[in-house]
Amino acid sequence: MSRQAENIVWHEHAVTPEMRETLHRHRGAVVWFTGLSGSGKSTLSGAVEQALHQLGSSTFLLDGDNIRQGLCRDLGFSDNDRKENIRRISEVAKLMADAGLIVLTAFISPHRSERQLARELIGEERFIEIFVDTAPEICEARDPKGLYRKARAGEIKDFTGIGSGYEAPLSPELRVDGEQLVTKLSEQIINLLRERAIIA
Ligand code: PPS
Repeated sequence: MSRQAENIVWHEHAVTPEMRETLHRHRGAVVWFTGLSGSGKSTLSGAVEQALHQLGSSTFLLDGDNIRQGLCRDLGFSDNDRKENIRRISEVAKLMADAGLIVLTAFISPHRSERQLARELIGEERFIEIFVDTAPEICEARDPKGLYRKARAGEIKDFTGIGSGYEAPLSPELRVDGEQLVTKLSEQIINLLRERAIIA
């Protein structure tokens, strides 16, 4: 335990996460999208958020490119910085799930160990890992931000899939084929949330 945490005691509040869930009429949960850059995480998580919103759910989408402009603006792409990035996101996502929201996260989150830590922190029963499985060559051909081209030219040294690794999930709650239609994949995820009783 750090010196700062030594004299700090957890305080239980009168309004509990369960009471907030009752108000929202759905459970708090974290839908954790993982996959390569260009795999379609942002597009798919955005489509799922839109579908949930239309169903009347309270949602929030945490997205790599946006969070790295604020909460994580001091972090780069070394293994340690990615680890800290995912640790902060996990803590924020947990707070939001406690607030009763269905949180969607769209981060490469390349390491199994960090995703496992996120799962343990947030809680197995409300952590849903979705592997957006798109072949590396397809992601590179899409190259929506021109980052693969820059990485190949040696302008980005630790780009995921080129100078830095990606560990695919071994047993995610769902693996989706990132080359399929977004509307179809989004439906699959909404169905999973129903099966898991996150939404009615
Ligand atoms: S991580 O690995 O989970 O900490 O990364 P994440 O926070 O999701 O940020 C990924 C987005 O940052 C851009 N970018 C890079 N990605 C990978 N490697 C390197 N070196 C890099 N530099 C910048 C890129 O736009 C990623 O967005 P997506 O949406 O995944 O393409």
